[in-house]
Amino acid sequence: MLDLINVNYDTLIPNNVGLSSDRRVLKALEKWHPGYINWWHDMGPNGFQESLAYLRTAVSVDSKGWAKFDYVKMPEYRWGVLLAPAVEDRRIPCGEHFGDLAWQEVPGEYRAMLRRLIVIQGDTEPASVEQQRFLGKTAPSLYDMRNLFQVNVEEGRHLWAMVYLLQKYFGKDGREESDELLRRQSGSEEAPRMLGAFNEETPDWLSFFMFTYFTDRDGKMQLEALAQSGFDPLSRTTRFMLTEEAHHMFVGETGVGRIVQRTCEAMTEAGIEDPYDIEAVRALGVIDLPTVQKKLNLHYSLSLDLFGSEISTNAANAFTAGIKGRFQETKIEDDHKLVGATYPVLKLIDGEAKLIDEPALSAINMRLRDDYTNDAAGGVNRWNKIIQKAGVAFELALPHVAFHRQIGEFLNAEATPDGRILNAEEWNAQKGQWLPNTADGDFIASLMQPQWEAGKYANWISPPKVGIDNKPGEFEYVKIYDA
Ligand SMILES: [Fe+2]
Ligand SMILES: [Fe+2]
Repeated sequence: MLDLINVNYDTLIPNNVGLSSDRRVLKALEKWHPGYINWWHDMGPNGFQESLAYLRTAVSVDSKGWAKFDYVKMPEYRWGVLLAPAVEDRRIPCGEHFGDLAWQEVPGEYRAMLRRLIVIQGDTEPASVEQQRFLGKTAPSLYDMRNLFQVNVEEGRHLWAMVYLLQKYFGKDGREESDELLRRQSGSEEAPRMLGAFNEETPDWLSFFMFTYFTDRDGKMQLEALAQSGFDPLSRTTRFMLTEEAHHMFVGETGVGRIVQRTCEAMTEAGIEDPYDIEAVRALGVIDLPTVQKKLNLHYSLSLDLFGSEISTNAANAFTAGIKGRFQETKIEDDHKLVGATYPVLKLIDGEAKLIDEPALSAINMRLRDDYTNDAAGGVNRWNKIIQKAGVAFELALPHVAFHRQIGEFLNAEATPDGRILNAEEWNAQKGQWLPNTADGDFIASLMQPQWEAGKYANWISPPKVGIDNKPGEFEYVKIYDA
């Protein structure tokens, strides 16, 4: 009897998709499994494969309680295939098939498009694990180390989620793509990951927190758009991934918040009022707020690039096909086909950023990116509340979308964080004020000393308000046996 809420742990791959009675797919996944484990050993958290981490594992897709917490060696984590429960009588929410029953099989005409979207999403998941693999060594606490590992194992599970779809619905092509997902590597010369931000380095913990806040949030928006897919298995897969994704962004938001809080506290204790007195603030062994802003500028701008070109025929086609919807498509009140509709797109016109109405269909990426920016602004406001409360005169801000872009309308423009267009000379002379420079990187690197005593935290970050799974402050979130 197939239980679609609780997860079956009898097979090598825990699942709620009835794998034990789907021999062909089970076999294919079992064949893929050793390569995945090898990848985890080679490219997963460096030096902690024998350690016991207090991690949550998905044991159900019931929204009331889907995870169980326990100590686990990461290579023995039960990476499963989980789909959110089917919605009865679910209809295609957008495009030319609007209102038809959602597809349970891949529609032949959209096969190539679907495969590409699944592969791109799948490629980002192992990429971030690769980018973050050395961070355990400099963890500012066991609590933070555990959160890092939690994010890592769940990105591993997200790879499984995409590989399941490829193996189940795309035959031989799907098997080849699944192997390629383990072959490409973040930052590799010959076989890099598919998207720019996933080939950048994550050299320190401030970058990690910015990455989980900004780049995982791009992931959230892409998953939200795929959750609207008329291809129901993709919709159900991504809906469950979103429940895990929320924790990743929590790690990012609270991580940056705790850094900001510690900096403000240290400044107050030392009687430093000027947040721009960088030398004095750094002498306290905390990260000055202007450097936090530079890292924010970097990660936000890299993440904006992940939305692709503002005007995109591919995005229009995916929407019209009903393969990828808009953010909260079913809550939008319009025809869901965008016949004759327009959307304001920010463009570079005569050296200035201007809003121009474009056909809404071609501006699907721009719209998702705007939704992302609104979503991302919330945490920045909460960081600013921490700074305000401490009485420090400083405000963090999202840079203008024209700033530091490598894709789309502003690709060839150089702009200040407030959107003023510069010439190349001005940009080169000033960019070190807006993006982390070598000295900033060296300073942050100098702070990255491990603090692995249970309940203790590195000097540059405040303890969290509450523990994971309500554990007390001195709880040993990771029992380190190797490293
Ligand atoms: Fe993910
Ligand atoms: Fe994530």
